[in-house]
Amino acid sequence: MAAKTMVLKLFSFIWLHVMLASSSLFCDAAKLVWDENGYILYCPCMGRFGNQADHFLGSLAFAKMLNRTLAVPPWIVYRHHAPPYTNMHVPYREFFQLEALARYHRVVSLEDFMDQLAPTHWPPGNRAAYCFEAAAQRSADQKTCPMKEGNPFGPFWDQFGVEFDKSVLFGGISFHSYYQPHWMKKFPPAEHPVLALPGAPAQFPVLEEHVGLQQYVVWADKMVQQGEGHIQALLTRPYVGVHLRIGSDWQNACKLLQNGEAGPHFMASPQCVGYNRHNALPLTMTMCLPDLAEIQRAIKLWVKKTSARSVYIATDSQSYRDEIQKLFKGKVKVVSLQPDTAQVDLYILGQSDHFIGNCASSFSAFVKRDRDVHGRPSSFFGMDYPRKNKDEL
Ligand SMILES: *[C@@H]1O[C@H](CO)[C@@H](O)[C@H](O)[C@H]1NC(C)=O
Repeated sequence: MAAKTMVLKLFSFIWLHVMLASSSLFCDAAKLVWDENGYILYCPCMGRFGNQADHFLGSLAFAKMLNRTLAVPPWIVYRHHAPPYTNMHVPYREFFQLEALARYHRVVSLEDFMDQLAPTHWPPGNRAAYCFEAAAQRSADQKTCPMKEGNPFGPFWDQFGVEFDKSVLFGGISFHSYYQPHWMKKFPPAEHPVLALPGAPAQFPVLEEHVGLQQYVVWADKMVQQGEGHIQALLTRPYVGVHLRIGSDWQNACKLLQNGEAGPHFMASPQCVGYNRHNALPLTMTMCLPDLAEIQRAIKLWVKKTSARSVYIATDSQSYRDEIQKLFKGKVKVVSLQPDTAQVDLYILGQSDHFIGNCASSFSAFVKRDRDVHGRPSSFFGMDYPRKNKDEL
């Protein structure tokens, strides 16, 4: 009899703990509370990761400016060259810590917003799109925001099963902080709780004043483990990280520079020529598209300066691994992993003892900003000519 009571007691003790554990799990999952100050939703519909990251920083600043919660969208990863060719949508927290953003401003993942908040607060049938009048001009009735027109727009909202029921147009304002009062007045959160936009409420490239927001973009533990694993297995410190942006699409882009159709401010170039248009440095062809001679020159210089024992090359096409290896007569190990996930490259470049990037590339810009946060040195192809030796002066 006593034994039976003991068993019963033990059982109810265990049961109680199971209940407590599951209820706390439940609380964690359901702790999203509706923000009366509203939300910003957008599609990171322009460009690949580097551009999306630039836009993300601006969007984060815009959400803070309007004191609305930012629904952090997943990254769009394009698979143009491999089946199934459809876009992949990778949740923000696969690569970075969502919690780290909260030190700057309120955020929720778009996935959680759709799962937990949208069913009650942004239900189907009641979903408005917000866009510039100019953007709506292109629609058949000239009054509809192009939220789902084409790729990647359609697939992006389709992943959440979102249809837009009406459009709200605006004009005469921009996302710049100057217009903060205009936005507040035009779209008070009580009447416009969810501002869903076709693209990022931000500029490309990122504005100088938002560059520092990179500090809140912190790698997820999983990425750190993966990246550190590669570094330990493949590289010996010190190592120089190199980003080669030299593929055919890039060659075409840089032609605009050669033809004089682009000035010093071209794609991500403000990061190296300066943000001020009036005194920007020239952007040369070598900076945009370094040839092998320039690639070799810069790598040799920085390997020597940092006494590097290995070189890591991230590339969008060829790696020139053999050509670079030859420079060092076997004394420096040259590695190019070419991982399926570009973020692995970003991580390894970010951790290098010196980084050589491409000034006009937003992929390089991500690495540069990430390194700046941690006080790590970087340089760019075509513009790091060392000072002359003293005896030459
Ligand atoms: C910003 O929004 C938060 C959350 O809704 C609110 O608690 C806070 O008072 C707001 N701040 C201002 C300045 O309106």
